[in-house]
Amino acid sequence: MPETLVIRGGRVVDQTGTRDADVLVESDRIVEVGANLTGDRELDAGGCVVAPGLVDLHVHLREPGMEEAETIETGARAAARGGFTALVAMPNTTPPQDDPAVVAAVLAAGARSCCDVRVAGAITRGRAGTDLAPMGELHALGVRIFTDDGACVDSAGVMRAALDYAASLPGAVIAQHAEDTTLAGAGHMHEGDWSSRLGIPGRPGAAEDTIVARDCILAALTGSRVHFLHLSTAGAIELVRAAKARGLPVTAEAAPHHFTLTDAACASFDPVFKVNPPLRTDADVAAVKAGLADGTIDAIATDHAPHPTEAKERPFEEAPPGMLGLETALALALGELVAPGVMSLRDALARLSWAPAAIAGLADHGGPVAPGSAANLCVFDPTQRWVVDADQLASRARNTPYAGRELCGRIRHTILRGCAVVVDGEARA
Ligand code: DOR
Repeated sequence: MPETLVIRGGRVVDQTGTRDADVLVESDRIVEVGANLTGDRELDAGGCVVAPGLVDLHVHLREPGMEEAETIETGARAAARGGFTALVAMPNTTPPQDDPAVVAAVLAAGARSCCDVRVAGAITRGRAGTDLAPMGELHALGVRIFTDDGACVDSAGVMRAALDYAASLPGAVIAQHAEDTTLAGAGHMHEGDWSSRLGIPGRPGAAEDTIVARDCILAALTGSRVHFLHLSTAGAIELVRAAKARGLPVTAEAAPHHFTLTDAACASFDPVFKVNPPLRTDADVAAVKAGLADGTIDAIATDHAPHPTEAKERPFEEAPPGMLGLETALALALGELVAPGVMSLRDALARLSWAPAAIAGLADHGGPVAPGSAANLCVFDPTQRWVVDADQLASRARNTPYAGRELCGRIRHTILRGCAVVVDGEARA
């Protein structure tokens, strides 16, 4: 008989509703959900929410090429500590994930980690925006999301060719980093009042809006799915809302920093607040929240972007863009979206779990918490207060913009394929 695990005394929240129940896991499956269950081992979930494991569509693991910032192992551990049971690793590694051998190596290392690591393949060779990557070969390895993230596919013709190619690959989706390089390229923060005042060259919101408008038109032309990464402007969100109303096959994500921080943070000249697309205005933050609330934005994705401390200590205009996100995402969603009533807990979990699982085609993630489902779960205490300490993060990097901030809500346990990979907040592997 395989060992059984009971998750005892929690409040189960998934797409089917909310109920107080124990969850019994055998091997890698949920076998029973109900009262007074017993198992060989127990995890206490008293006072906690038991939910489908979170799914992050947008993570930079840095391996191969920048292991001083993160490795597949440390990034996966940070993900597990954040309640994520699956993540999609972005292709801007060195060498990039435009090659079957690189993708196979990342998948193999991911399979040994404490998160289900999936890989996004590059759209173009070298992420250079000109020649298509061998998308069919990457698809055969299990790649479903293709993106040049970190770089925009600026050429409409190349984007159209990628969308046409993707139409022949079941489950494939083209994900765009929507920032026109010719408009955004020379900027280091949002172009607006703050950039003028600080004398830092800006990246206009129009760089995002124009690409989103164009790619909605290309989704209509080709009938292929387009996913917009890390949307940050009110204009882009309105365009996606209109495209969805027309029935176009578009989806979108937003990162926690785009609903919690504004460009005013750059007044510190601290590069920890430098990110692409950049932190924007109060009105844009309000639009991101409204887009998440009404489902225009399907998913919350972290854009976890670790960088070595030395790199982030350079002057603002020389430092690389990007910030950590995996270990703070859930608490930020609870604090900034659920607590103020922007959306229900169930809707926040939809954006963090089952909606991104559906976009990535991950049948074994995103619940429901019911007999027969894969045992990929997170258990969190929505009332636990904690202060972000960069030195306590599982990530190898330290570039969190939330250091010193008090958050509410913390992961207690994470269960991956029936194994407790995080117990009482501590990673087991
Ligand atoms: O801020 C960012 N950092 N945006 C991106 O698109 C790439 C990422 C990175 O890789 O550091």
